[in-house]
Amino acid sequence: MTSINQIRASVLSRIKPTESEKARLASLAESIITHINAIAEQEGISASAQLVGSSARGTWISGEHDLDIFIMFQPDVERKELEEKGLYIARKVAQVSQGFEERYAEHPYIHAIFDGFEVDLVPAFNVASAAEIKSAVDRTPFHNIYVSSMIQGLEDEVLLLKQFMKGIGVYGSELKTHGFSGYLVELLIINYGSFVKVLEAACDWKSGVTIDIEKHGNLSHSDPMVVVDTTDPARNVAAALSLDNLCIFIDKACAFLEAPDGSYFKARVPEPLGDAEFKKIIAARGTSLIAIGFAAPDVVEDVLFPQLHKLEDSVREMLERYDFRVYNSGVWADKKAVVLFELESATLPQVKKHTGPHVWAKEHAHAFKSKYKDANTFSNVFIRGGKYMVEFPRKYTGAKKLVESGILNCALGKHVALSIKKEFHVLENEEILSIKDEEFRKFLRKFFEK
Ligand code: CTP
Ligand code: MN
Repeated sequence: MTSINQIRASVLSRIKPTESEKARLASLAESIITHINAIAEQEGISASAQLVGSSARGTWISGEHDLDIFIMFQPDVERKELEEKGLYIARKVAQVSQGFEERYAEHPYIHAIFDGFEVDLVPAFNVASAAEIKSAVDRTPFHNIYVSSMIQGLEDEVLLLKQFMKGIGVYGSELKTHGFSGYLVELLIINYGSFVKVLEAACDWKSGVTIDIEKHGNLSHSDPMVVVDTTDPARNVAAALSLDNLCIFIDKACAFLEAPDGSYFKARVPEPLGDAEFKKIIAARGTSLIAIGFAAPDVVEDVLFPQLHKLEDSVREMLERYDFRVYNSGVWADKKAVVLFELESATLPQVKKHTGPHVWAKEHAHAFKSKYKDANTFSNVFIRGGKYMVEFPRKYTGAKKLVESGILNCALGKHVALSIKKEFHVLENEEILSIKDEEFRKFLRKFFEK
């Protein structure tokens, strides 16, 4: 068995930025910041740039070239003015980049590539404290001050924990992942002191675990994990973390401590699932698959994924309402979006057993009997277990037809609804193999293997 120390050393040699990478990042950050400040001054705009995020704290993973640069405005500036002037400066700086685009979070920012680095240029308000933020991104500079002052000497621990979480698939607070954010990882290290100590503690966590480093006290959240933001007592830093991702981390933390192994730090990349294998799997499982495919709306993942999950939930609810039992479901998106359901069966018998009221509920009983007296039924109204019942033909015997007819009546997010109204396809079993995309085929394998 490899010792934890050997594993640490070998993982760190892969993920720790070298001195030359650090120097390259520092000089790029400085030149962009200088450029922003110069433009602001020329234009008479009172704003100044600042490096934040993991690259400002020495806690980024080597090769992940991501710089978060904030353009800070005075808090009395109107939001509209901040957006206009902030973007104006950001676009001007991005003229010398290798390419850039405007993106939308709570407010717009510029994402640009400089010298191979992904750089976010984000306008924010320079408020006096994190409790007075005007926009969610305004907290970030406070995180930066706090973490920078507490993290010195612990950077390697942060890197190890981030990489461990990446390896087991729970890193990233985006709404696609619902995992641990970089700031959350840093707070865990600050709280427990080291990578191994976080794992030891996590092995004993339960849903509802609460960490309050600065003893702000009485924060009531019903989230699976509550980590009080050191800089903003009302905020739960772990708000985006799902119960399942918390539990995957708990499970893997225990398993790693029992039998340490370097493989935990390497993300599993599934092989695309081929046609023959797919046919074999569905034949062996004996279930039915139904996929809804449509063009993915052109919005950021944080907007798209909640809408895909909303579609997943509302179609699942509809399927179950019509007696189709859903075993598994999942969503995938690239240019195309797919919501996939595994059903116990995609077909049901023509006959549906329908339960009515108790015999002694006179008023309801009367209504029930008269409704089905002359209706097209397979049976008379009869009594089982004290209740009236009747057997009649069901409206949808196939899940595919149901989804095709019912999808537009399901609760849908705005962008997904627009795309589905234009065009969508419902595919059943082997028809799903018409989607050849390699990434989709990887998703398919994970869907079955979990
Ligand atoms: N942030 C936050 N909450 C989030 C995402 C980001 O508060 N859900 C803030 C944090 O202060 C974070 C900064 O925005 O440090 C930059 O975000 P991001 O680049 O996503 O995270 P990093 O901490 O830089 O981690 P990574 O190494 O993954 O880039
Ligand atoms: Mn970052």
